[in-house]
Amino acid sequence: MKFSLALIAAVLPFISAATLERRAWTLPPVNGIFDYQLGGSYAPNTNVAVLTRDSSASGLAGKYNICYVNGFQTQPQDKQWWQTNHPNLLLKKANGQLFEDPDWPGEFFLDTRTAANRVALTAVMGPRYVDGCAQRGFQAIEIDNLDTFWRAPGLITMDHNIAYATLLTKYAHDKGLAVGQKNAMELGARGKNEAKFDFVVAENCQEWNECQDYMDVYGNNMISIEYNRSYFDASCKARGSKISIVLRDRLVVPKGKSGYVYDQC
Ligand SMILES: *[C@@H]1O[C@H](CO)[C@@H](O)[C@H](O)[C@H]1NC(C)=O
Repeated sequence: MKFSLALIAAVLPFISAATLERRAWTLPPVNGIFDYQLGGSYAPNTNVAVLTRDSSASGLAGKYNICYVNGFQTQPQDKQWWQTNHPNLLLKKANGQLFEDPDWPGEFFLDTRTAANRVALTAVMGPRYVDGCAQRGFQAIEIDNLDTFWRAPGLITMDHNIAYATLLTKYAHDKGLAVGQKNAMELGARGKNEAKFDFVVAENCQEWNECQDYMDVYGNNMISIEYNRSYFDASCKARGSKISIVLRDRLVVPKGKSGYVYDQC
């Protein structure tokens, strides 16, 4: 009797864990040939193993698909929706005006400064973006614009954004999605250790001399995009046998459009 009770006690946690387990997430294949299709979807080369598309698109069967989610700013087409439905979740300056990304019109900063806001933001962003990624054939999301704390100094802090990122990664993991940190090398190891990001997607790391800093945290679970041929060539030489590296045009236009640039190593 004593023995079997102990056995039940030992086995129970595993049974309940298995019962509760959802679709397990997987990492992108290390050093898989990558394509970055943010400006519009197209059929990738057959040798491509990993690709990123916008959250409004669909994943491609047979590939590892990463869904782009603008986690910390509004998408331009959604700005009116946010203003109508969740004005209190948008960051305002002291003069009451919304905080708009100077480089990306229509992208308003999300206000991550209170725990209540972070919970409310996750309750919006999860169903509005992450669920669709899970339903439309993606295996992961990448969460962009983590660095609003850097661009809204005195308002948002790194701690606010890490706390909010932690809620988003938990939400995505529960949906069976892996989660990539997008850029924001200044997080150091906190992105991996606290927010629980699984891999990193880094733009311009050769240009800004950050590639090794990311690899110190994520090892070879890294995808790198350069927009300049000379930096791309240098990065390929330094670490092309270890991680996924691509060259793209800055507007990431779809294949067939004028200005399209793609190379990989
Ligand atoms: C790429 O980078 C090199 C080295 O900094 C620079 O000389 C060149 O102008 C850049 N090319 C483009 C297209 O930006």
